[in-house]
Amino acid sequence: MSDELLNLKDVKKYFGLRGAPWRKAQSVRAVDGVNLVVRKGETVGLVGESGSGKSTLARVATRLLDPTQGRVEIGGTDVTRLRGRRLRPIRRQIQMVFQDPQASLNPRQSVGTILSTPYRAQGIRPTRAQLVELLEQVGLAEQHLERYPHEFSGGQRQRIGIARALAMKPGLLVCDEPVSALDVSVQAQVLNLLADLRDELGLSYVLVAHDLAVVRQVADRIAVMYLGTIVEEGPAAQVYEAPAHPYTKALLSAVPVPEPGVSRDRIVLTGDVPTPINPPSGCPFRTRCYKAEDVCATERPVLEPVQGSTEHRAACYFPEPPTSERKQ
Ligand SMILES: Nc1ncnc2c1ncn2[C@@H]1O[C@H](COP(=O)(O)OP(=O)(O)OP(=O)(O)O)[C@@H](O)[C@H]1O
Ligand SMILES: [Mg+2]
Repeated sequence: MSDELLNLKDVKKYFGLRGAPWRKAQSVRAVDGVNLVVRKGETVGLVGESGSGKSTLARVATRLLDPTQGRVEIGGTDVTRLRGRRLRPIRRQIQMVFQDPQASLNPRQSVGTILSTPYRAQGIRPTRAQLVELLEQVGLAEQHLERYPHEFSGGQRQRIGIARALAMKPGLLVCDEPVSALDVSVQAQVLNLLADLRDELGLSYVLVAHDLAVVRQVADRIAVMYLGTIVEEGPAAQVYEAPAHPYTKALLSAVPVPEPGVSRDRIVLTGDVPTPINPPSGCPFRTRCYKAEDVCATERPVLEPVQGSTEHRAACYFPEPPTSERKQ
């Protein structure tokens, strides 16, 4: 069997907009042609500004949303058109952790009931021991089973969300901004928990974040999204140390460098992210890019290897040179 847990092939998700009847129907191109593979044991960080389509992509990948076009493969099986009962066994393999544990946990249900839900959806009655094991995996204990979400701190609530996602023993967790609703002091604890679970259970992750510093701590590979497309992808160290796409470079320029004495020139992006209703022709980033030339408005650049590395790819006509050739 291949070790590909998730394979997205040219996935698009457009949302129809209802407008005045005399106007042409419009759609939001939330995800506009994404290819992404996640292999066993890998943590892929998906980063990008607000509105770039990260959550939509996460929901399409976990089949909470149907793609408009393209193909979703989970564990080597094409699940693009699967629904209902036939989707159920596939659902076990890939689970989602949501940004806001407050909103994603039903306040009227006890923790025990919340953790039983994924079992019941599969037609199984969990034992108390199974539920306790789930709680212990995330650093909580049996005494928490009878409590309700409001009796927990934000960090603990997110642990409950993670426990629920683990119930079906998935191979891949798609975490949509799992720590951005939490206090900074608690963020590290939850990220450490995710890392521990990865080591103990051999889990893989897609970790959605707009904070690059968060992703830097845990991701093996980074995919950078802009206006519904992936503009750069590669091993985390390479993307951080030698970003090839001007957008990645600008995003990273705002992240403090951990080594003392080293600093990056700050690149301040001007203008807002264009609307995905009517994205720019050619390269989606060209309207804010400090390197844009005429060719950038013609055709959308595709992801191409950077410096001959097939692992590190960028979609840009004028990628940045490798660090060794850069002026210090
Ligand atoms: N159900 C929907 N109907 C219409 N448009 C939508 C819907 N869901 C998302 N969108 C639009 O799709 C685009 C991408 O949204 P998405 O939530 O995926 O972005 P995001 O990268 O997760 O942003 P954030 O960092 O703010 O969470 C946005 O322009 C958003 O307004
Ligand atoms: Mg989002």
